[in-house]
Amino acid sequence: MCGIVAATAGNNIVPVLIEGLKKLEYRGYDSAGLAVIAGNEIERTRAVGRVAELEAAAGQIAATTGIAHTRWATHGVPAERNAHPHVSGGIAVVHNGIIENYEALRSELTDQGYVFTSDTDTESIAHLIEATLQTNGNLFAAVRLACQRLIGAYAIAVIDQTQPDRVVVAREGSPLLLGLSDSGNYAASDASALLQVTRNMVYLENGDIAELTASGIRISRLDGTPVKRPVHVSELSADAVELGNYRHYMQKEIFEQPEALANTLEAVGGSKTIQPGIFGAGAAGMLAGIDSVLILACGTSAHSGYTARYWLEAIAGVPCNVEIASEYRYRTSVPNPRQLVVAISQSGETADTLAALRHAKSLGQENTLAICNVPESAIVRECALRFITRAGPEIGVASTKAFTTQLAALFLLTLVLAKVRQRLAPPQENCFLDQLRHLPVAVNKVLALEPAIEAWAERFADKQHALFLGRGRHYPIALEGALKLKEISYIHAEAYPAGELKHGPLALVDANMPVISVAPNDDLLDKLKSNLKEVQARGGELYVFADEDSQIPESDAVHILRLPEHYGELSPILHVIPLQLLSYHVALVKGTDVDKPRNLAKSVTVE
Ligand code: G6P
Repeated sequence: MCGIVAATAGNNIVPVLIEGLKKLEYRGYDSAGLAVIAGNEIERTRAVGRVAELEAAAGQIAATTGIAHTRWATHGVPAERNAHPHVSGGIAVVHNGIIENYEALRSELTDQGYVFTSDTDTESIAHLIEATLQTNGNLFAAVRLACQRLIGAYAIAVIDQTQPDRVVVAREGSPLLLGLSDSGNYAASDASALLQVTRNMVYLENGDIAELTASGIRISRLDGTPVKRPVHVSELSADAVELGNYRHYMQKEIFEQPEALANTLEAVGGSKTIQPGIFGAGAAGMLAGIDSVLILACGTSAHSGYTARYWLEAIAGVPCNVEIASEYRYRTSVPNPRQLVVAISQSGETADTLAALRHAKSLGQENTLAICNVPESAIVRECALRFITRAGPEIGVASTKAFTTQLAALFLLTLVLAKVRQRLAPPQENCFLDQLRHLPVAVNKVLALEPAIEAWAERFADKQHALFLGRGRHYPIALEGALKLKEISYIHAEAYPAGELKHGPLALVDANMPVISVAPNDDLLDKLKSNLKEVQARGGELYVFADEDSQIPESDAVHILRLPEHYGELSPILHVIPLQLLSYHVALVKGTDVDKPRNLAKSVTVE
């Protein structure tokens, strides 16, 4: 939930650290700091707030070795004393993750005479390494030995003023990769931070420790065994993480959805049939043997799972459960070894989803599939099967293109499972594949509704609450619409299956409670229309996202926006887009920080 950058090179690395932190700000943005070795001494600068504050505070600092950090507070409030790096003697440390035994370490180190100046768990790592260095003068060895004492998740980077030409990094549970170049070597929480200097990336495994100098790297396991890790040439384009002509990453990512879907659907190319192999080697055998699906995910990814449940049961005839990962990991459930466990995650690093996946496997459920946007992530590596969505990097904290590409992937899973269960006749298969391939065009037409949605947004700016309604496979879309609105505009929003309205939420409806309804022209439309009448009868103001042919009359208190195409089973993918645009424009009117909403972070790598 924090971002790390480290560098050692033949030239000044401070601009690289700052630029890298800016790319990682999505991981946390309540304070930032850097430490460099200047004249054989650690020079540290920290600032509360965004990386821009740190950049201003860092002034003219120049050095060839340094570490930097952007923070999302877990232990200790956002304050300069809690910002990283933390120092002890001549060493400085930045850390992403949570050290579970920090209290025991803190009391042990306090007894040894170390004075703690922050409320963080990280400071105990700094003192522990310093103490280890006293008996073992080599930084690489000292970090390795200190890490053996840490319980929890971490990615760390460490510098020592007595060994000014090197950085030592280590990882267990939190992401960390190295970037290699002729002019220097680097480390960061993700590749986007290092594209400014190199495309050659080495992904560290859990339990790896690495030493970087300007001229080379060495990697070992925590027990000291040397290891080699392959160099990957990143395919990310530097443009993919640039804002371009857009005002916000969220806006850019909403408008990238046609391309993101087209890239993701390349898996089925121009083919008239779908093959299980798109989920990896061995998929045909595994998918033929499963009797149900269990989806594990958090946040927006869980909403894609809820949507898929409607598809999987209706089209493939497979029983499906969707569980919030943080609940599943701690409850006693009935394991089913024939169940397919699907972990859905944009980042592939979400701590709860990863732990839920491991929990499912520990119960003997080995049929696992990752649906993920980051190929090298922990969740992908720990699943037997994988489908990589090709949304490209998603920077805005509120997920958009990751969601629609997850839906596309889950629809492909539905088709494959329907096929292996002989529930998909060739003409129907061909028809679904054509519809999928047409999606980018259909999404473009929905995006063209932006001006009308912008006009609606003005009316929401002074509202405190909003209610979202949907039925059937569009109920999870209502959930996602409510989540988007609360995440970035801070308006309290709730979603209900429209049929539940009369069992409670109707009591809230009055002129101050806008009711947003997803109303495609499907077999539930007549039922939904009756629910909307219930709202009208209580003086509620309705905002309806209908289809062209939904036949809902407009009036003073019923505002209708019609989507250009009716899209059958795949309609949730189109109907979520106006809800994304609505929340974006409401947030703009309210003047909130759209890409970095308060208290949230993009990648939640802590519990
Ligand atoms: C955070 C993000 C959400 C995201 C959720 C799950 O809360 O702010 O946008 O949906 O984590 O993340 P994942 O990477 O597992 O999809």
